[in-house]
Amino acid sequence: MKISQLAQKIETSSTLAISANAKQLKSEGKDVIGFGAGEPDFDTSSFIKKAAIASIERGETKYTPASGLPALKKSVCRKFKNENGLEYAPDEVIINCGAKHSLFNVILCLAEQDDEVIIPAPYWVSYPEMVKASGATPIEVKCGPDFKITPSLLKENITAKTKILILNSPSNPTGALYTKDELKELSSVILENGIYVISDEIYEHLTYEEEFYGIAQVSPEMKNRTIVINGISKAYSMTGWRIGYAAGDREIIAACGRLQSHSTSNPATVSQYAAIEALDSPESSRAIQEMVAEFRKRRDYIYDEISSIDGIKVNRPAGAFYIFPDISSLLRGGISSSDEFATKLLEEKLVAVVPGEGFGAPGYIRLSYAASMDNISKGLSRIKEFIEEIK
Ligand SMILES: Cc1ncc(COP(=O)(O)O)c(C=O)c1O
Repeated sequence: MKISQLAQKIETSSTLAISANAKQLKSEGKDVIGFGAGEPDFDTSSFIKKAAIASIERGETKYTPASGLPALKKSVCRKFKNENGLEYAPDEVIINCGAKHSLFNVILCLAEQDDEVIIPAPYWVSYPEMVKASGATPIEVKCGPDFKITPSLLKENITAKTKILILNSPSNPTGALYTKDELKELSSVILENGIYVISDEIYEHLTYEEEFYGIAQVSPEMKNRTIVINGISKAYSMTGWRIGYAAGDREIIAACGRLQSHSTSNPATVSQYAAIEALDSPESSRAIQEMVAEFRKRRDYIYDEISSIDGIKVNRPAGAFYIFPDISSLLRGGISSSDEFATKLLEEKLVAVVPGEGFGAPGYIRLSYAASMDNISKGLSRIKEFIEEIK
C-alpha cells in the first residue's frame, strides 16, 4: 500500500467538501445559496490592511523566528492579560499558521499512540482527524440536548489512558457557550484526573448575551493544565491571513516551536504584522462590536424562522455564527440521513448546508449565518419548500 496507515485513517473535511460543491455549482452560473461558510462575510478592516501594506513597504518580507515575531507574542500576551486576566510570558506563546495549525501542533506534541483524547460531540470536524494523525484514539462523547459535556459524562469517559479533553466554546457547530459555573465544575474532574485541556477559543468574541469565559481562567491550577488556542480568523474577519496562536505550559509550547521549525517555519511575515495591528489597535473593538451586532440580528432571525418549522428542533445559539437544527424527524422515505438531506437540498433547491455526520451528530445539519439577510431569507424559503415536498 502506497499510503501510510496513519494517512489512510484521515477523512476529508466535510465542511470544505460541501463548500467546494457549492462553489462548483456557482461557477456553472447556478443561483446557489450557501449556508456552508465557516468565515465571516465581512471584509478585513482597512486599518489592518494598511498596517500590512506598511510592513511590506518597510521591507518586512523575510523570515521571522519560526515560532513567531516577538512583537506579536507580546501583543498576544497583552490580549490575554487585558481580556482574560491571564498572565503568560512570551515563551509560553507560539504563533502558528491559523488556529487549525495551532491545534494540530499541540495535539501532535501532547498525544501519541495508546493515549485517548476526549472530544465532546457534536464537535468541530477536524478534532478527531487531528487526534488520529497523532496516533492517539479519539473518544467521542455524545452530549445531551444542550450540546455540552457535563462533569458526570466526563468522569464516565476518563480511563487510565485519557490524556486530553478538547473543549470548544463558543462551539462550532452548535453555538453552545459554557458558563463560568459549568467550567468550574468540569475543572474539578479535570484536576482530579490530571488530564490536559485544549481549549479552542477561536469564537471568543462572537457571543450574543453572556460574555465568554475560558476554562484557564477558573484557577491557576486549571491554567497550568490548559493550552488555550485562539487566533485572528473569526473575530477580525481575517481567515485568509492564517494566523493562530497557542498559549500554555512552556515545555509544550517549546515542543510546538521545534515541530513548527521543521514544518511550516514562521507564519507569513506580513500576516503577523497585520495581526499585531488587529490585536493592538483601539479601532478593533468597534469593528468587532459592529460585526457581532449584525450576527446577533441574523441569529435572532434564523433561529425564529427555523424554530417555527414543523418537525425541526433547534437550540438558540449563544455564540459563533452557526445554528444546528435536529432534522431527524424529517428523515424518512428516500432521505434517510442528514447527508442525503444535504445532498438533495443542494441538487434540488441549490441550498448548501453541512450534514451533521462530520460533526459526530447524524440527524442534524449545520447552517452558517455568515451570509446576507437577503440570502438567509431566500435560502430559508427554499428549505421550507423542500421540507414540504419531502413530507
Ligand atoms: C472550532 C474551530 N477551531 C479552529 C478553527 C480554525 O481556524 P483558523 O482559520 O484560524 O485555522 C475553526 C475554523 O473553522 C473552527 O471552527
